[in-house]
Order: sequence, then structure tokens, then C-alpha cells
Amino acid sequence: MALSDGSGSRPALAVPVLSDAERFKLDAGDDALFYAEPRFVQHLDEAFRTRLTQLYRERIPPCATVLDLMSSWVSHLPEEIRYDRVIGHGLNGRELEANPRLDSHWVQDLNQHQRLPLDTASVDAALIVAGWQYLQQPEAVAAELLRVVRPHGQVIVAFSNRMFFQKAPQIWTDGGDRDHLAYVARVLLAQGWDPPELIAEATRARGPLGWLGGHGDPFFAVISRRPAG
Ligand SMILES: C[S@@+](CC[C@H](N)C(=O)[O-])C[C@H]1O[C@@H](n2cnc3c(N)ncnc32)[C@H](O)[C@@H]1O
Repeated sequence: MALSDGSGSRPALAVPVLSDAERFKLDAGDDALFYAEPRFVQHLDEAFRTRLTQLYRERIPPCATVLDLMSSWVSHLPEEIRYDRVIGHGLNGRELEANPRLDSHWVQDLNQHQRLPLDTASVDAALIVAGWQYLQQPEAVAAELLRVVRPHGQVIVAFSNRMFFQKAPQIWTDGGDRDHLAYVARVLLAQGWDPPELIAEATRARGPLGWLGGHGDPFFAVISRRPAG
């Protein structure tokens, strides 16, 4: 059982990377209110989702305990693979209840509280899809993920070039795709994650547009392992 009330209320100690200005976002209103109404939509197009599911198929072993942090009603995991356990987190309980891949879930605003209610070294693969760009305290979240992921376990942060602009901190809104990759890698490295692997790929649009060479949402991922020590 990976869900717990945590052995304390404080997040793991984090090494600061961002300045206060880089954490600033245009809409400083409550994130929980912004996500209060469920959005049963796909945030990423089919080409991106297909690439992401293929990455999961290749990288996450079937026996894994998986954490889908900043999730919704979809987790993009391959349908044919049964994992030991899939734990979901997000900001909208109704979306998470509707997610067929989740064995359990909880709701928590990570910009308010970063301590995760999970046991230390209880997760094999931690996933964040189209969510990192909304973190104002990414260092503390990355440090908590380092705590809850087992030695040799991994974190996979995937994103494209879309965002709710007003909800993304300045470090994200001011940068381009390459900056985003470098930024996520920098935060992970600073908390003690292994040097990350970076993936940046164009995707091919589905259907007639794709036949004509049209692109889908670009695919970016940062993958890192937790060192053994
Ligand atoms: C664009 S959606 C992506 C959802 C899902 N990962 C997917 O692939 O469809 C962004 C998600 O980030 C999460 N999120 C945004 N701000 C958050 C915050 N302050 N605390 C916790 N989660 C947050 C919510 O769960 C929201 O559904």
C-alpha cells in the first residue's frame, strides 16, 4: 500500500533553483477554483498521446507501482498492460474518479502544499503530463518525488507547447521548448536525480493532415532515475 498519511507534514528539503520573479504567474487566484469544474477534454492531440503511450510501454515494467501526478480523467498508460498499482493525484476529484486506470487517488494543490501523502521509496515510476508548467514550487515537488520513488525508479515529465498561460509561472511563459527541457532537467538535477535523458520530437498529425506532412503536438519528455544511494 503506497498511500499513507505521510510520516510528517513537511516536504523533503529542496535546493532552490527559481527566483521569486520566476515563480510569478498572471492569475494568482486559487488553483483549486480554476480546476473546480471538471474538464472531460483531451489536453493533447492524438499524435502526442500515441507517442506518450508508446514511451510508457517501453519504459515502465508491468509490475510497477505508478504515480500519475497532476492527472485528470486520462493517464495515457497502455491499455494492454496491467500495473501493480496506479495512484493518481490532481486538482479535480470528479476527473480522477472517472479515470479508469487509477486504483486510488487524492486531491492536493501542489502550489500550496508539496508534501506527498505517500510512503518513502514506495513508487517505481512517477509521471507528470502537461502539469509541470503550473508548478510554482517545482524544487519541493521534485524533492518529494525523489523521496517517494524507489532507488533506480524513474520520473517521466512529458509536455508539449500548450499551456493555460495565466496559470503558468514566468519561468515557463518566458521560455521556449528548449528552455522548458533545460529547466525541468535543472530542477531535477539540483534535487539529486540522475542526469536526465531529454526527448524532443515532432509528431505526425493523424488523418489526411498527416498524410500531407502536417504535424501534431510536439513531444517533449525529461526522464531521470533515482540514484541507488
Ligand atoms: C493540462 S491538465 C493535464 C492533465 C493530465 N495530466 C492529462 O494528461 O490530461 C493540467 C493538470 O495539472 C494539475 N494541476 C494544475 N495546477 C495544479 C496545482 N496547483 N496543484 C496540483 N495539480 C495541479 C491538474 O490536475 C490539471 O488537471
